[in-house]
Amino acid sequence: MEKQMDRRKFLSYLGTGAAALAAASAGLGTLEGKASAASKTADHLFGFKTNRVSGYFEPIQPSSEDQLILPKGFQYDVVAAFDDVINKDGDKFGQGCDYNAFFPIDGSNNRGLLVTNHEYTNIFLHGPIKDGKMTAEQIKNELYYQGMSVIEVYQDENGAWKMDTKSKYARRINGFSKFELTGPAKGSSAVGNVSTVTGTFANCSGGVTLWNTVMSCEENFSTTASAASLNATHYGWVVEMDPFDGSFLRKHTALGRFNHENTAMGLAKDGRVVVYMGDDKKDACVYKFVSKNKYNPSAGKGNSNLLSEGTLYVANLKKGQWIALTIEAVKKVLESASFKAPSGVKGTKEDLLKMFQTQGDVVTNCHEAALLLGGMPTDRPEDIEISPFDNTVFICHTNNDNHGNIHGHITRIFEKDNDLGATEFDFEIFAAGGRQSGFSSPDNLAFDSNGNLWVVTDISSSSLGKGVYTPFMNNGLFVIPTSGPSKGDALQFASGPVECEMTGPFFTPDERTLFLSIQHPGEETSDLSKPTSLWPHRPGDKIPREAVVAIRGFKLG
Ligand code: FEO
Ligand code: CA
Ligand code: CA
Repeated sequence: MEKQMDRRKFLSYLGTGAAALAAASAGLGTLEGKASAASKTADHLFGFKTNRVSGYFEPIQPSSEDQLILPKGFQYDVVAAFDDVINKDGDKFGQGCDYNAFFPIDGSNNRGLLVTNHEYTNIFLHGPIKDGKMTAEQIKNELYYQGMSVIEVYQDENGAWKMDTKSKYARRINGFSKFELTGPAKGSSAVGNVSTVTGTFANCSGGVTLWNTVMSCEENFSTTASAASLNATHYGWVVEMDPFDGSFLRKHTALGRFNHENTAMGLAKDGRVVVYMGDDKKDACVYKFVSKNKYNPSAGKGNSNLLSEGTLYVANLKKGQWIALTIEAVKKVLESASFKAPSGVKGTKEDLLKMFQTQGDVVTNCHEAALLLGGMPTDRPEDIEISPFDNTVFICHTNNDNHGNIHGHITRIFEKDNDLGATEFDFEIFAAGGRQSGFSSPDNLAFDSNGNLWVVTDISSSSLGKGVYTPFMNNGLFVIPTSGPSKGDALQFASGPVECEMTGPFFTPDERTLFLSIQHPGEETSDLSKPTSLWPHRPGDKIPREAVVAIRGFKLG
């Protein structure tokens, strides 16, 4: 679609320095100046210490081509694709690549570890599944090809990004890996009295902690758990791993169990750690965890223990309140003489009293506990990011046709007194999908150091190019300023191949490279002899390959 906006103004805006932008920021009112990009808080939270221009580009138009299309002057390298060998042991890159996080080796922007989530599997791994029931071999592949990959990547003498398969760090974490449980459900009857569990899968998006580990989110876990006859209460958690230490694998039950999309970590004014999280389902809630104890920068990975004890809150958007999810509160509601189960909660009062006996039960059955206590059902809350400029919190509400929310929107939360630890907030609809904005169904988010939000879209493959989705064509990557004169305007930076969704945008610290996953190209294929996509069109390939690409061409200012 043709954008109805002053593009020249926007481009000059993109080239403006971050500090000037913060000063010019319109609409932030009282927040302005409290946490500019140059402030200690913003730097501390996000590691953006400079003021680079990462987004100068000529916007592209929507496309239905089976290509990854980028603006003039940009190019991409396929770094790792489905089934590529990643190390000397012959381990393979997983399928359904999603979240990415880059960790420099020895401070380098040209060599580092790339952690990638693998969310799901499809026909290009399994072939057709007969009568909807997987064979033993298919189940083994299901558990192997989901999870996470750690690979080592570098730029060669020509600047091209490649995978170093001789890496001592490269490894897979998947359905066979062992995890230590932490928090209220550890050892509790809610999870079958265990303290360790086997396997992670359905790893969607994630986040990096303040101590440089990765949080990976188990989203739609039930299909795989059921196919493999696994205890479903062992999945649907947030996993923490250390790219440089293969022995460190935890699942933090204090952060709740639901269809986790991602995590966004920041600090309350008093130094407690705050983690925002979305439950990617129609009519599901937004959560935040606030640790009991305070962050200690010198403790490094020891801070991970903060994630085992604290308060899990759910958002009530009507009251502007964060409601604490405690067993005491749940019992009080259930024991009330006038109790009536809210919409979305199944079972009688007696069933529910049996389900909720301990805090372990609350975190394990988080969605039900949230609805019982007044959590607001919303429109598929996916990625959440905290602005490095002003501590406002951006949430992608992807869409929800139950409510006629066809194109979704991005909600922006303003915590009371600009404190991430607050229990009260206000919010605005920062940007809405639709023909007026040029994007539909926002999903993953990433900030650059100019305060621009990079947004990928997730129009479902079966809807792409049809009905009211027609004008958007294939899924895209958009750049949206969060302050200044072009606040909320979306410009298209990339168009993905046929039936793909682009996921996991992540910049190198110098913002000269953007890693991005190309998930499920050709997803609607039902006959392997007629794939609907062949991206990335590798010579000899007869199927598409989900892959992580490295995009370069970013200018420094
Ligand atoms: Fe895995 Fe909610 O996207
Ligand atoms: Ca997602
Ligand atoms: Ca998605």
